[in-house]
Amino acid sequence: MYQKFIINQDGVLKFGTVYLHKDLLSPGEQCRFGGGLWRIDHSRGAIVLYGRSFDFGLPHLDCVRRIDWTGIGGCPRPLLHMPHWPDEYPAVPVFAQRESTALWGSKTPCRVLVTGSRGFLGSRVAWYLEKCGCTLYTPTHQEMEITDIESCIQAVESFRPDFVIHCAAISSTGYCQEHPEASKAVNVEGTCHVVSAATLHNARCIYMSSDQVYQNDTNEWTMTYREEDTDLENHPPRGIYGRDKLLMEQQAQAIAPSAIALRLTWMYDSREFSSMPNAPQQLKEDRGIMANLEKARREQSPIKACTRERRGVTDVWEVVKCIASILHKAHLEKKNELPGGVYNCGAESTCTTYELYLRLAKERQIDPSLILPDDSWSRSLAMNTDKISALINSNDFVKPKDQGEVAHFG
Ligand SMILES: NC(=O)c1ccc[n+]([C@@H]2O[C@H](COP(=O)([O-])OP(=O)(O)OC[C@H]3O[C@@H](n4cnc5c(N)ncnc54)[C@H](OP(=O)(O)O)[C@@H]3O)[C@@H](O)[C@H]2O)c1
Repeated sequence: MYQKFIINQDGVLKFGTVYLHKDLLSPGEQCRFGGGLWRIDHSRGAIVLYGRSFDFGLPHLDCVRRIDWTGIGGCPRPLLHMPHWPDEYPAVPVFAQRESTALWGSKTPCRVLVTGSRGFLGSRVAWYLEKCGCTLYTPTHQEMEITDIESCIQAVESFRPDFVIHCAAISSTGYCQEHPEASKAVNVEGTCHVVSAATLHNARCIYMSSDQVYQNDTNEWTMTYREEDTDLENHPPRGIYGRDKLLMEQQAQAIAPSAIALRLTWMYDSREFSSMPNAPQQLKEDRGIMANLEKARREQSPIKACTRERRGVTDVWEVVKCIASILHKAHLEKKNELPGGVYNCGAESTCTTYELYLRLAKERQIDPSLILPDDSWSRSLAMNTDKISALINSNDFVKPKDQGEVAHFG
């Protein structure tokens, strides 16, 4: 018999004297965060943790939320970890991390890996989820190169997240049009790598798609689209970006049907959060509709706005909040009970882009004559969002109240 410990799926560190680490598991329990060996160090008056479990790997001691002393006589003592055993140094004190109850109630905060966390959406998702009490890993582009499957597996394996929020992409439609190979490598294959790596380590993936998947040769500017209104084979999206996003969805869902694809609209930052006293410095600058309007005001340069285009335009914080709601629901319920699939996610739209610009210009006291009507082309990217509203509590995801052109927090 050996003196062994494990850290279970709820972050409970359990001790015992057993042959195998798995003998420490109760029925239904999993060893999610590794294990090792323990011994009493009388000279230090402490319990020393060292080594690793062959079955479950190195202990992730930063995941410890509670220490169960029963297997060691029920008496709490100082805990020291010796990561370089048999070297006695360093000897690192181990504490149960305080649980955050901001979003997760009494459950262990969930571990979330965010890709593209230096980008417009990813930086806001990471900032918000950290405030909600999630334990985050936000690898840089270099630390997790999504075109490289090994890099993805390594990043996921090293952190063992519950969820991967995949925001890394080539997000410029123009760049994708000019660089189709890069678009395919990053937006299609890169996403498949991320979804595969997440699935390999039992993490659930939420990844970002786009309303551009609806713009095909059947597109009528008065239409509003549901999730099933796409047809990659017979009526593929017109642009490379939209086509690759649709291809990405098909391939990623084939790898992991439980993954969730969010078809996002054009986004902007309402700046309500960014102007808060603790405004996160790392948020990537907004290049959305409000930025266009501010530029027009600053430079007194007119904007051409289409009179025959309809599309949702969404405050990015609304999307961030929606992602947090999905995590919250999936984490508090069973992780895999929330149905996977493709979801339209953002503001619905009932007015034209020209009308929207005019209205926002008026609200912001910008000279409306700077908005010029353009009727030279037409399209609709307008989405119906009933499916996502049914997925999460409608109180969590605030649908736009007035016409639905631009979604703000309620
Ligand atoms: N912004 C919108 O209005 C909008 C609308 C609809 C859908 N979306 C979708 O939402 C997601 C997020 O968009 P966003 O606006 O936040 O994009 P973004 O600001 O351009 O950020 C993209 C991020 O992806 C990273 N990245 C690019 N290639 C990578 C690679 N090969 N490996 C690892 N990381 C890589 C970039 O890192 P580096 O900068 O270091 O290269 C950057 O951090 C995308 O899927 C986008 O298509 C966005």
